[in-house]
Amino acid sequence: MNAKPNSLAARDIEYLMHPQTNLKLHRDVGPNLVDHGGGVWITDADGNRLLDAMSGLWCASLGYTSARLARVAFEQMQKLSYGHLYKHNSHEPAIELAEKLLEIAPPHMSKVHFQNSGSEANDVAIKLVWYYQNAIGKPEKRKIISRHGAYHGSSVATVSLTGKPDMHEKFNLPLDGFLHTDCPYYFRDGGSGESEEAYASRLAENLNTLIEDEGPETVAAFFAEPVLGSAGAISPPATYFEKIQAVLKKHDVLFIADEVITGFGRTGNMWGSETFALMPDMMTCAKALSAAALPISAVIISDHVYEALVAQSDRLGGYAHGHTYAGHPVSAAVALEVQKIYEEMDVVSVAQRLGVVLEETLAPFADHPMVGQIDRTGMMAGMELVADKDTRTAFADELGVPARVGRAARENGLIIKSIGSRIAFAPAFVTSEEEIAEFGLRLGKALDAVHKDVCNA
Ligand SMILES: Cc1ncc(COP(=O)(O)O)c(C=O)c1O
Repeated sequence: MNAKPNSLAARDIEYLMHPQTNLKLHRDVGPNLVDHGGGVWITDADGNRLLDAMSGLWCASLGYTSARLARVAFEQMQKLSYGHLYKHNSHEPAIELAEKLLEIAPPHMSKVHFQNSGSEANDVAIKLVWYYQNAIGKPEKRKIISRHGAYHGSSVATVSLTGKPDMHEKFNLPLDGFLHTDCPYYFRDGGSGESEEAYASRLAENLNTLIEDEGPETVAAFFAEPVLGSAGAISPPATYFEKIQAVLKKHDVLFIADEVITGFGRTGNMWGSETFALMPDMMTCAKALSAAALPISAVIISDHVYEALVAQSDRLGGYAHGHTYAGHPVSAAVALEVQKIYEEMDVVSVAQRLGVVLEETLAPFADHPMVGQIDRTGMMAGMELVADKDTRTAFADELGVPARVGRAARENGLIIKSIGSRIAFAPAFVTSEEEIAEFGLRLGKALDAVHKDVCNA
């Protein structure tokens, strides 16, 4: 790219380091500059309007730029712009938000522990797992299991939990004691003639074997996203979580549901845990908690875990953990307003209704020569791109087909996500049916353009 001297693009290259970016390539291609957003549309620096079918990073669940949320933030900043929760300190926005979250959380949840990001929430959940196991006299229970392909964050511990080798490579990670079991990816890994149920049984048996081989007395917890988001919106096969939870129970292993993407209606219920009948010991949430208007996340802790934490903190003289901005009053006030908006709009029914529209929009693509499978739960969906539909053969990695579809979509004014061999969609709950139809049209153009290019069709 030829960024003009002193242009925003040139200054970006000069001053910013970008996450999840090829840093060398960035010098050549520069940034995708966005200027402003409204509803589910973003306008880039050249004035092009882009329909965001990904809610940013699965998070801007109410679209962009809300005057109502801005007002709440402004008023809270004028009243109390900062307050912490250390050493018995507290404030109304944090208390009200915690109360609200427990109102909508599964009934066995008893406390809300605020953090600032999904990574932080999972990081704290890991610490709480260890603290809990020590508290109940099982200090040797330290190992934590998650799944290949899962994404739980970028901090040292949460990326160790994450099952993505590229995020470990050359970072000297994962840390010891983080183990990975199968990704429940029936389309790719289900055996020929194997039913979803049989596949789920096989995966549960593999988990059982892993725990027994490691020694159940050393395994502390299992973390899972109800729907694997950053693996490409992969929904679990039938009976999977029922069987996995039975194995965890048998070996007395805690279950932490990572609801960072799936919380607040995304799967067509308030929680992914409801959609898949999960009974987690802790849940983590972020993203749609504040509709991404400000950073805030939470660990929601079940009663039985919390009671053990209480006893341990008393034995030790205190719970020696904290983050300066955790439960920030402005973020909490905005998140509370977001929860009010969800209630007013009945976000769960909206997600269910729009989820069906999304499915109907995607369904015709099942006949597209590059589409191997379409997977939708609620308002999140993934599409597997294949070189051969009958044999399910994937495109060679070096062709970078999903990334090309992502770029072609952008050229057609549409933002989607490309991940591995998949593309994914998570439209905001304020997307209109007409906008979903428009999304379908633009997606079709992008798929056709790349198909023509790759397959000389
Ligand atoms: C399931 C899941 N957990 C955790 C995270 C990490 O959240 P954050 O980027 O806010 O640290 C993400 C981010 O995409 C996620 O998708």
